[in-house]
Amino acid sequence: MRFSVVLGTRPEIVKMSPIVRELQKRGHEFDLVHTGQHYSFDMDRVFFRDLGLPDPAVNLEVGSGTHGAQTGKMLAGLERFFMDRRPDVVLVQGDTNTVLAGALAAVKLGTLVGHVEAGLRSFDRNMPEEINRIMADHVSDLLFAPTETSAGNLRAEGLPEERIFVTGNTIVDAVHENLEIAEERGDALGALGLRRGGYLLTTLHRQENVDSRERLANVLAGLERAGRETGMEAIWPMHPRARKNLEAFGLRIPDNVRAVPPLGFLEFLQVEGGAALALTDSGGVQEESCILGVPCVTLRDNTERPETVEVGANVVVGTDPERISAGVLDMLERKGGWGCPLGERGAGARIVNICLERTKQG
Ligand code: UD1
Ligand code: UDP
Repeated sequence: MRFSVVLGTRPEIVKMSPIVRELQKRGHEFDLVHTGQHYSFDMDRVFFRDLGLPDPAVNLEVGSGTHGAQTGKMLAGLERFFMDRRPDVVLVQGDTNTVLAGALAAVKLGTLVGHVEAGLRSFDRNMPEEINRIMADHVSDLLFAPTETSAGNLRAEGLPEERIFVTGNTIVDAVHENLEIAEERGDALGALGLRRGGYLLTTLHRQENVDSRERLANVLAGLERAGRETGMEAIWPMHPRARKNLEAFGLRIPDNVRAVPPLGFLEFLQVEGGAALALTDSGGVQEESCILGVPCVTLRDNTERPETVEVGANVVVGTDPERISAGVLDMLERKGGWGCPLGERGAGARIVNICLERTKQG
């Protein structure tokens, strides 16, 4: 019984880590298959180091490119690897181009495919991630929906009940397993000169935000205004895509915003947990802030994580500066206390169990 665990970007490395730990604990044979979609040290290797993950069996080194070119290279490379290695189960996670290529390459070879974090929907087909999620869900054999809401989305699209499993989200374990390790490892707040509860945290990388000069400029104006009205500095570990486009558009970062390079997971968890509030367009940051009891303002027009909004941990404000600062002021009144709507701990173990049961049956 051999697993292939496909990953390529930082959120996949983080969210696959509880599954990898489970496979290691039980002594199952597995290969980490890296597409190389993310490759800069601080978007890739740092997560293997921080999470103590084994080296990938292969790195396809696909790198950046247009959607078609990037996905096409992955598809060819993954097919070659699977034909050679013949895994019994291929696991993919999330909504990136890596997930689409992994699911498609494996299913066409007749290999059992499990999609971790299945059923999330923003209902916005302009997002490349929405297309990737829909495609991956429809070709996968095992759909690991984190919540009843995501399972409901799958049912509404006619996906059969026997493929759907509500497992919880692996991010719950990724946060809890690593928070303590993070605090033992060093004082990230001290190193950055931050005072617990005294700053805002921002991250931004979505194509629809950072590739648009207008939306990016609006976010900067919103950050400036929120900083002025709260008297707090915003720290911004900057995704390379955001940095590249800020430079290309000639936009200036406001004085109350401090841009720093992307942080490793252990540092980021501490900075996230110590923030007064997170402003983000990241899926993972919406989830993690909810788990950590930190209010979140989502800089998008929609979210595929409505559970975080329903419990009062998150508000979706778009990119209008006035709405951003109003959202910040409103959410700063919330002091946590919500329950975690993303499932109980142990999603990784539940996912591995289901894979084992299914391969026995098959
Ligand atoms: C990708 C995913 C997105 C996910 C995000 C996590 C798709 C369609 N998008 O977006 O869903 O939320 O990862 O961060 O799969 N770059 C570097 N170094 C790197 C990686 C990227 O400098 O290691 C720069 C390159 O200029 C590149 C740009 O970032 O062109 C975008 O990278 P890409 O992987 O295409 O998309 P992300 O925006 O990272
Ligand atoms: N993250 C990190 N350092 C950073 C920013 C994010 O370790 O500087 C982690 C974060 O904790 C989360 C993941 O990266 O687990 C989210 O990745 P990203 O926002 O790039 O992608 P998304 O979740 O939107 O797909």
